[in-house]
Amino acid sequence: MRDQDWLSQLIDRRGTHSTKWEKYKDRDILPFWVADMDYETPAFILDAVKERLCHPILGYSEDPESLTEALRTWLLKSYDWSIKSEWVVWLPGVVSGLNVACRMIDSDKRVMVPTPSYHPFLELAKNSHKQEIRVPLKLVEDRWEMDFSLMREHIDQTGVLAISNPQNPTGRAYTEGELRNLSSILLEKDLLILSDEIHCPLIIDETKNHIPLAKLDASLLSRTITFYGATKAYNMPGLGCAAAVIPDDSVRERFQKASSGLLPSIGPLNYAATEAALRDTSSWIDTLNRRLRQNYEDLKQVTGDRITNVEATYLAWIYVGDLKQRDPKEYFEQYGLGLSWGEQFGDPDYVRFNFAAPRETLNEGLQRLKQALQDI
Ligand SMILES: Cc1ncc(COP(=O)(O)O)c(C=O)c1O
Repeated sequence: MRDQDWLSQLIDRRGTHSTKWEKYKDRDILPFWVADMDYETPAFILDAVKERLCHPILGYSEDPESLTEALRTWLLKSYDWSIKSEWVVWLPGVVSGLNVACRMIDSDKRVMVPTPSYHPFLELAKNSHKQEIRVPLKLVEDRWEMDFSLMREHIDQTGVLAISNPQNPTGRAYTEGELRNLSSILLEKDLLILSDEIHCPLIIDETKNHIPLAKLDASLLSRTITFYGATKAYNMPGLGCAAAVIPDDSVRERFQKASSGLLPSIGPLNYAATEAALRDTSSWIDTLNRRLRQNYEDLKQVTGDRITNVEATYLAWIYVGDLKQRDPKEYFEQYGLGLSWGEQFGDPDYVRFNFAAPRETLNEGLQRLKQALQDI
């Protein structure tokens, strides 16, 4: 198969219990909602899984040392961040790790979340029986920025701040300046910082680089739990495996204590897949990012200024506040489009569009979107 054929290939996912496709299985609705790509998982990952299957027993498994080594090498190579092996705690998923971390703080402290936000962030406070503080991002020209003065106002009550960078759903990749501003607020107080960086390999704006927040400052390092996972960028969210990088010994001990009895073990196939991804030296991610950039350009042609700048991820945040319909999801479904409604992320005036689809599916989706937006 030629280098990029996998980006055009239409793969019928019906009958695989795909969350994305099952939702509309009997209707002519194309799914552009959940963050799951319609591109095949890379062959080198499937091969690693097949190789593990050559052994006939799929028992409970220990964290492979080689996996931690692969993560260390990847962080050093990709972001010039040198971490120690003992900092790494392997998890079945990022979301479980975020939830565990929120259990670590005192019950009178609150969970601060910038919004709009990936919806499990908006359940962190409830799940850990804490109060939530939402700090809406500000739209400055065509990009979403953290509202530092609002954050500072609420920082005294905050026990944990949870951010995603790159940001889901707005597609922001925060600049070093923004992260330094954030850290100056955070360092005034003794709070825990959760930095979910799962989308970091997916860069749309080539002038942007991902910067691990914890790497910026030694005091920040000791208060931050950084989450990584290869499942998003390599399209294998069904093989959950994630890393929490926790440099501070006592934070790590508290995290491990808080997770006791809550998390299932990680499957041997999941370990094998993640290690293959972290060891990837091919051009797979570059090729993917190139295609995602083209897809984003095409999407922009259709949405005009309804869309805000996507710098990273394959998710676009589209304004539909002028829609006089109560549920935009239903409105777009009438046009054959399955989108995520922004209400779920904390802003009902937007929908989220996942543009990681083969050309043919995307083109059909964009035609439908054009009509739907014209008719608003
Ligand atoms: C920002 C962010 N974090 C975490 C996840 C999910 O991670 P996991 O499946 O490892 O829990 C997603 C999935 O879309 C995401 O967008």
